Amino acid sequence: MDRLPARMRAAYVTGLGPVEAVTVGELPVPAPGPTDVLVRVELAAVDPVDLLVRSGAYPTPTPFPFVLGRDLVGTVALAGPGAAGFAPGDRVWCNSLGHGGRQGACAEYAVVAAERLYHLPAAADPVASVALLHPAATAWLALFRHGGLRPTETVAVGGGAGNVGVALTRLASLAGARVLVTARPADAAWCRSAGAAEVVDYRDPDPAGRLRALAPGGVDLYADTSGHLDLPATVDLLADRGRVVLLAGGGQRPTLPVGPLYTHDRRILGFAISNAPAGELAGAAAALNRLLAARALPVRVHGVWPLERAGEAHRAVEEGVRGRIVLRVAEPGP
Ligand SMILES: NC(=O)c1ccc[n+]([C@@H]2O[C@H](COP(=O)([O-])OP(=O)(O)OC[C@H]3O[C@@H](n4cnc5c(N)ncnc54)[C@H](OP(=O)(O)O)[C@@H]3O)[C@@H](O)[C@H]2O)c1
Repeated sequence: MDRLPARMRAAYVTGLGPVEAVTVGELPVPAPGPTDVLVRVELAAVDPVDLLVRSGAYPTPTPFPFVLGRDLVGTVALAGPGAAGFAPGDRVWCNSLGHGGRQGACAEYAVVAAERLYHLPAAADPVASVALLHPAATAWLALFRHGGLRPTETVAVGGGAGNVGVALTRLASLAGARVLVTARPADAAWCRSAGAAEVVDYRDPDPAGRLRALAPGGVDLYADTSGHLDLPATVDLLADRGRVVLLAGGGQRPTLPVGPLYTHDRRILGFAISNAPAGELAGAAAALNRLLAARALPVRVHGVWPLERAGEAHRAVEEGVRGRIVLRVAEPGP
């Protein structure tokens, strides 16, 4: 390993604000603590939540200058004495930087606590992997940690063609569930290729009625990523003991259908991966690693852009780009 440089390129902010706040420039290379790993970053992804952190819409500790980004794929440069299991040169990934006081992934070097770092399987595709880390871990936790999905259940996914929606669909169908999704008709083939049994046009005048006709026995688990959920109609769709998992739609203030909820033992659950403790993230990571190695998860990568375009990438995600934007920070290597 060559001597570490003193400074590195990074995409960061010195205060919370609009996309214009994103600066790509030089910062000191951070020093890892005893249980940390210093990772030389190859690839970082841009997540919708990075925009919420950068703008201040999602309040979380952001020590300035604050490097943006949750997800990285890279190589271990240095491992602290208490970072068991990691050695220089190991190919690794992380998906929980850039919030909670932790500096982010969009830099040539990132400090990662060993408990938040995982080995990247040799058979995994690095670009697809970094693009999948956030949506697929979110989907895994939503289905299995929060939604309590069991094989043979019927799952409905609101926003089935999106990054998280398609991961929900693939993971639920691999688990043995029958999956119904809402999506625009142009995305029907994409959703079916991910494992959807049926695709309902979300612009249909009565999507809930369409779903009810497709699942007369009720939906066991409804996961919404669209942020446009008709909550009363969705609760009515549920089987007894059915669950709604809300992952999006922070601005919604729907009426709570109390009777249809408690008289059928139904539940409405909120879930944000930002709250997941390291142990739960590690559980999702173990499952993801098996799937990344098998290249079993579908993903749409909109583009692989240089780190210098980090601000432009934030703007594109803000404007609703379809698919994931990956930032190339450095070429693979020592
Ligand atoms: N809670 C968590 O832990 C967590 C984690 C990750 C992401 N999220 C949130 O989840 C949401 C989705 O993220 P993403 O990366 O998957 O975004 P995305 O790729 O843009 O997916 C959103 C999907 O929703 C669809 N949609 C829009 N309006 C709809 C409607 N009225 N009915 C049904 N579907 C509709 C979109 O379809 P079109 O393309 O046709 O518009 C798109 O396919 C975001 O709000 C993100 O912040 C939450």
